[in-house]
Parts: sequence; C-alpha cells; structure tokens
Amino acid sequence: MKVLSEKQISEFVTALKRKEIPLKLEYLGAGARRYLAFGKIGMYQTEAMLIKNNSDPIASTINDVNVVYTGCGDGYKIFPLVQKLIKNNKINIFLLDISKYMLDAAKRNLTHIFKKKVNVRTYLLDFESGNFAPLTRTIKRITGKNNLLVLIGNTLGNLSERKRILTNFRESMTLSDYLMLGLHLRSNTIVDRIKAFTTKNVFDFVETRLNEIAKTTFYTKIYWNQNTRNIEFRVIFKKDVRIDYKGEELKFRKGCSLLINTVHLFSLGEIYSLLNDSGFKVIKKFTDKNQEEIILLCQPISL
Ligand SMILES: C[S@@+](CC[C@H](N)C(=O)[O-])C[C@H]1O[C@@H](n2cnc3c(N)ncnc32)[C@H](O)[C@@H]1O
Repeated sequence: MKVLSEKQISEFVTALKRKEIPLKLEYLGAGARRYLAFGKIGMYQTEAMLIKNNSDPIASTINDVNVVYTGCGDGYKIFPLVQKLIKNNKINIFLLDISKYMLDAAKRNLTHIFKKKVNVRTYLLDFESGNFAPLTRTIKRITGKNNLLVLIGNTLGNLSERKRILTNFRESMTLSDYLMLGLHLRSNTIVDRIKAFTTKNVFDFVETRLNEIAKTTFYTKIYWNQNTRNIEFRVIFKKDVRIDYKGEELKFRKGCSLLINTVHLFSLGEIYSLLNDSGFKVIKKFTDKNQEEIILLCQPISL
C-alpha cells in the first residue's frame, strides 16, 4: 500500500518548495511507529495524570456523550475518562486520525481494556483539510447523543494552522457538543522540554519523510524560537542536494534549511484569544501544579 496519497504527495512537494514539511505527514507509515516509540516522555505523563485526576469533574460536566477522539495516537490518555463515562452503559468511541497505524493501535488498546463496554469505530481523516460535519452529524443522528471531540497532546499546538483547525472543529460541532483541548503551557521548563525532545527516537520520527528521499545529506537542530514561541526542529543540508521525486526535481543548496517540526508553548491569554477568535467559550479549565499542561473543556458559541 502507498504511504502517501496523491494529495499528500502534492502537499509534500509543494511544502518542500516552501522550505518546510507538514508535521502531519511524519505520522504516516513508519513515522507512526516511531512516534509511539518516544511518545510517553514527561509531557505525555503530565497530561495523562491531569486527565486522570480530573476525569470526575470532566465526566460530570459532559454527561452522556459519544467520544470522538481526533488525533488519537495510541488512545491511552483517555482511558480514565472512558472508565468514568462507562458507568452502566456501553459507550461509543469514534477514533479519527490521519494515520491508519494510530487508528489500529488505539482501537486495539481500547477494546483490549474495556472489552464489550465500548463500541469503537475508526475513520481515516485529515482534520486540517476541512470540516468533518458529515461524520459528526451522522454520529449524532445515529446515537441521539452529543459529541465530545477530544484534541489533546498539544496536537493543535504542534500543527501550524491553529485557527483553521479550530474552525474545522467548530464547523463540525453544534452548540451542545463539547471540545476537550489539551495544550502545552509556556512554563519555566523550556530547557527541560528541549532536553526531553533531544533523543534519537524523536529525531528519527521528525526526519521520517526527508530520510526517505535525502538520507545522510542533512543534520537536524532543535532550538527555542522566542519570536514564534515554538520549540523548532530545523534540517540543514550538509552539501548541495538534487532529488528526483515523483517527476519533480528538487534542489537544495549547502546550508539551506527546512522547518520540519514545531512545538508551540502557549500563554493562557493566547489560548483564550485563539478560542474566542475561533468561536469557542471555555467551560472548565484544569492545569497541573507546575502549570506545564492545560486541559480545557470548551463549547462553540453562536456568532
Ligand atoms: C501529538 S500526537 C497526539 C496523540 C494523542 N492524542 C496523545 O495525546 O497521546 C498527534 C496525533 O494526531 C494525528 N494527526 C496529526 N495531524 C493530523 C491531521 N491533520 N488529521 C488527523 N490526525 C492528525 C497523529 O497521527 C497523532 O495520532
């Protein structure tokens, strides 16, 4: 099976000519396995604990919902919340991800733990490319329940078009649906965070696509960009490189650089303006004691 669809190949080539690689493409093929190999570093654990410790107030706020887990990874972080939501009823979990590998892993993990108490369906979908209202509407119609869309793990902060993604989500929700958003906060621990990302496993993951076409011609550096407030990964070519890829000739000069991954660290004010500008209100917020991670329960507002 082809790893990238024709559309994704066009997105990849076009982005290379803008000197960047969209992060979403790194999760395809071998990249998914590589992501899951490093995924459970400190930030993962802090957010997982935050969800676990607050699953009671979250569950009582949202009540009886379908869980629509967008960008599900291996699915583990929502286990404590699913446990609370199950009570006596079987619950519906809809997994949406760009990567089939992630969908299969999350479905396997959820059904292994919760067995017949969950009804899990998977959908291969790119939520950056538009709204997914046809799917969320069908889910609501069939089940007669509200949807809880889950977007955690700083997935929103790692992708570049944050406002556009939130607009796609809002267009896929009614006023009675919920969005559970999990983001990294801008704490005093940027150095530690950079250290946590400076491992071979992380670099192997972010270099997945470029290694397929230009292995050994570049090195990757990671740094804090004060202007964008991102931790950024940038590839630098060690020599002049010419690549023939899908009928295109791509040329990079020695010293030329490509932006291959960003991890945004949010201030609280920035999150609230982004949500407000995208048509959401915050219902509840939870942070860990070091203020490194935040979970927000949001709802669309009528404009
Ligand atoms: C940072 S990981 C977070 C995984 C999981 N939510 C967690 O917190 O453990 C991002 C997830 O979103 C998926 N993803 C990234 N871009 C996507 C897109 N444009 N559309 C759908 N899924 C996407 C990836 O495949 C991956 O599963």
